Amino acid sequence: MSKGKLIVLEGLDGSGKGTQLALLAERLMNAGHSVWLTREPTDGAIGRLIREGLGDAARFDEATIALLFAADRLAHIAEIRQHLAAGEIVLCDRYVLSSLAYNSQTLTLEWILALNEQADARLHPDLTLYFDLSEQLAMSRIDARGDVHERYETQRQLYQVREMYRMLADVRIADNVHTIDAKETPEIIAENAWQAVQNIL
Ligand code: TYD
Repeated sequence: MSKGKLIVLEGLDGSGKGTQLALLAERLMNAGHSVWLTREPTDGAIGRLIREGLGDAARFDEATIALLFAADRLAHIAEIRQHLAAGEIVLCDRYVLSSLAYNSQTLTLEWILALNEQADARLHPDLTLYFDLSEQLAMSRIDARGDVHERYETQRQLYQVREMYRMLADVRIADNVHTIDAKETPEIIAENAWQAVQNIL
């Protein structure tokens, strides 16, 4: 059986990642591919702990949560590998780039890179779709959904996360990052994502 592909979706909350993940999955399945959808933080034990802790800064400080993200990822990689071995296309909402972009705001990038060294050694995405959106638009979409603002979701923080994403998109060659303008309509974004995906299938 052919080896599968790992496609990662990255971007600020509000960038339309979730919508695009669903559209891409549908398109891939219509084209006859087996698709497995997943996300980080995961739905596993460590991922659930992270979700509980994200809204409660008193519970886990930034360094603790960064360690948990890295640990969650290593458990996740083992699971992803099984799906890749079965020839599936794995669509993953967030991966190493999220740790580098978000968690290097209060901790050094060097330390976050070190925490992710094992993940980097074990599994690189075949393609990373980065949905680029300004922090203003991301904030107004989060507000329009009526979502509460989580950790990292002040406008200033989102600005810094976006800056980091844009820098990383240029330097993380191994992640094969393809940047998509997320202010476009969902249809145009989906088309752009599809073009990039076809190049790696
Ligand atoms: P998110 O995708 O928003 O999950 P949900 O939609 O269920 O809230 O991820 C939660 C937050 O975690 C998001 O603000 C990004 C952040 N994050 C990190 O800081 N580091 C990481 O390694 C990952 C995967 C996410």
